[in-house]
Amino acid sequence: MKEKYNNILILTGAGISAESGLATFRSENGLWNNHRVEDVATIEAYHKNPDYVHDFYNNMKPELWNARPNNAHLAITKLQQEYPAEVHIITQNIDTLHEKAKSKNVHHIHGQINQAVCLHCGKVIETWGDVSSETVCESCGVMGMMKPNIVFFGEDLLCMNKVEELLRKADLFLSVGTSGVVFPAASFVQTAKYYGADTVEFNLEATSNNFYFDRHIMGKAGETLPKFVEDLLNQVHYKSSL
Ligand code: APR
Repeated sequence: MKEKYNNILILTGAGISAESGLATFRSENGLWNNHRVEDVATIEAYHKNPDYVHDFYNNMKPELWNARPNNAHLAITKLQQEYPAEVHIITQNIDTLHEKAKSKNVHHIHGQINQAVCLHCGKVIETWGDVSSETVCESCGVMGMMKPNIVFFGEDLLCMNKVEELLRKADLFLSVGTSGVVFPAASFVQTAKYYGADTVEFNLEATSNNFYFDRHIMGKAGETLPKFVEDLLNQVHYKSSL
């Protein structure tokens, strides 16, 4: 590990929001244990039964609207505010807890629950309200073409140009609360390592990506990440005091 980093890149998954009370996807009571991916998270499912897919995400909105950021989200904001480096977040999460924690440089590669996109004109709208096949696009006026702005399996990820730029620049790559089984996000650590980053995984358990991590910090991110941020801050303040 270096004494001072200049470009820190943090990949987050559902595990960082678990201590805010939000379900992850692949745990015992995870979202994918109670719903079939094929029914709610593929573009085919959306075209086959748009309102069933809309309802799945509409029903998720109240809980995500009310969720509060936890100490892991707040630790990232503290790092951004107090550590002298560029700190970017690539999140797989569709919740807005990083934004609620006042983090900056948040890149949602799987989209956001409070957005919808018009498949006719491409307009993205922000809404916490229900979206359905009756929703009229406020830009082109076409009805029934609004889709949750959430990346379904088989669709291209969002902000990938930015992600590639950040992976090349990173000298520290942190992976927080992701099982590392969904690509291409699961390959980001390999790319960061290739370009010379130090890599650290924060999870309750070692994941399938463990070969590419220099360090594994086991435990709840709400406890382990604040401690890691404190150590980084102490190190850089100590160095600057010499
Ligand atoms: N602290 C740290 N890690 C945790 C915590 C916690 N408090 N709670 C759970 N975890 C870990 C679990 O051990 C697991 O490895 O978070 C991970 C959550 O894994 P998944 O449920 O698979 O969620 P994620 O990795 O974000 O899924 C990636 O898959 O289905 C798609 O689009 C969906 O964005 C999602 C993507």
